[in-house]
Amino acid sequence: MPETYEVGLLGHGTVGSAFAELLSDRAPQIETITGLRPRISGVLTRSRGDFDEILAASDLIVEVMGGVDPARDYVLRALRAGKHVVTANKQLLAQHGEELWAAAREHQVQLRFEAAVGGVVPVIRVVQETLAAAHIDRVTGIVNGTTNFILSEMARTGQSYEEALAEAQRLGYAEADPTADVSGADAAAKMAILARLAFDTPVHLDQVVYEGIEQITPDDLEYAREFGLGLKLIGTAERIDGGLSVRVHPAFLYGGHPLASVNGPFNAVTIESPAITEITLSGPGAGGPQTASAVLGDVISAMIPPASTPETSQSLPIVKDVESAFYLHLEVDDEPGVLARVAAALGEQGVSVKSVVQKGMGAQARLVMVLHRAPEQRFLAAVDQIGGLEFMRSRPRFIRVVEEEYGV
Ligand SMILES: NC(=O)c1ccc[n+]([C@@H]2O[C@H](COP(=O)([O-])OP(=O)(O)OC[C@H]3O[C@@H](n4cnc5c(N)ncnc54)[C@H](OP(=O)(O)O)[C@@H]3O)[C@@H](O)[C@H]2O)c1
Repeated sequence: MPETYEVGLLGHGTVGSAFAELLSDRAPQIETITGLRPRISGVLTRSRGDFDEILAASDLIVEVMGGVDPARDYVLRALRAGKHVVTANKQLLAQHGEELWAAAREHQVQLRFEAAVGGVVPVIRVVQETLAAAHIDRVTGIVNGTTNFILSEMARTGQSYEEALAEAQRLGYAEADPTADVSGADAAAKMAILARLAFDTPVHLDQVVYEGIEQITPDDLEYAREFGLGLKLIGTAERIDGGLSVRVHPAFLYGGHPLASVNGPFNAVTIESPAITEITLSGPGAGGPQTASAVLGDVISAMIPPASTPETSQSLPIVKDVESAFYLHLEVDDEPGVLARVAAALGEQGVSVKSVVQKGMGAQARLVMVLHRAPEQRFLAAVDQIGGLEFMRSRPRFIRVVEEEYGV
């Protein structure tokens, strides 16, 4: 009989049940790689299993329950008992990562979490291992498949946000309560984890500013197409003036950006560093079998050589005011001088216009423009002033534009 490697499974839902099945399928191959045959030592759900018994019987714990409590307590107890832990839980790491990584270091065990960001896209490994020697300047990502599917559908079919969300729910890409996805909160947790690893500084979920996609209209997508732009929910983590900014918001991309062609429920992350220019990784960001595959990959890695998340060696300040380019959409009365007054308000704040489309519709007109990069606070001050002008028919709408393109 081969020697076994006992895996305790916390959670048996979408990911947990797919993981149990994959592990039993792949056990013979894993034995040829590691010399040990993995098997499930016990399963914990709300209705079955006992955590202490599972812990005592396991070499490694897989946490795919989700949520912060009691997952945090179970993971800490497993690490303190000298067991490796593999988790897919971004909320837990984005809020309590430092405590958990410290416990793993103290007890000389591994805490692996590839599936917590980007599903099966191996971004954690690439940032922690492959690019360990690179000085990463910026990480940009589409890290939520639900919102990417909704925005892709809106662009492809002209559907409203509500219609595309209903379609996502029908196809199983969005949950019955989609709030965590569409509000940007899920992506914010993933960007906090990526930023922590890429920049070697503690980053808590509370420090990530985020906006969702609930306010996006088909109009925005249609006008943007005229400028050659496509809309994505983009997470950005970047070094700015010796500090760090981590944020999630809808943003337009030009066609040459590596994330511009990522459509449907896919995830992708672009990592930029002077040494490597950029690397983009993409693939399925969720799904039971896909996520289970990333979890099992971590289990196999934990069975072979040790790796740990080192303590951060610095504490970078979080930068609040960043520079962005913007798309600005104004509903105005169709009268002479409107464009000049809008341009003057922008000019007063040092914001310059890159391109404009103006459409008359009887007594009303629509003024849509793309602006050059400017400090966000200055742009917002200009928008405030424009919003108060007497010819405005509704509140100005604006969305950030990512200007970078590669390989064009
Ligand atoms: N689904 C995906 O595509 C995906 C992708 C990437 C990462 N993840 C992450 O993977 C984790 C699991 O997601 P999932 O979609 O598999 O969730 P899920 O389908 O809701 O399953 C959760 C499982 O955990 C169990 N559980 C929850 N709270 C528990 C508690 N207090 N005590 C004991 N058992 C408890 C549930 O037990 P019951 O069956 O008794 O309710 C269920 O078996 C989450 O952290 C999620 O963010 C998921």
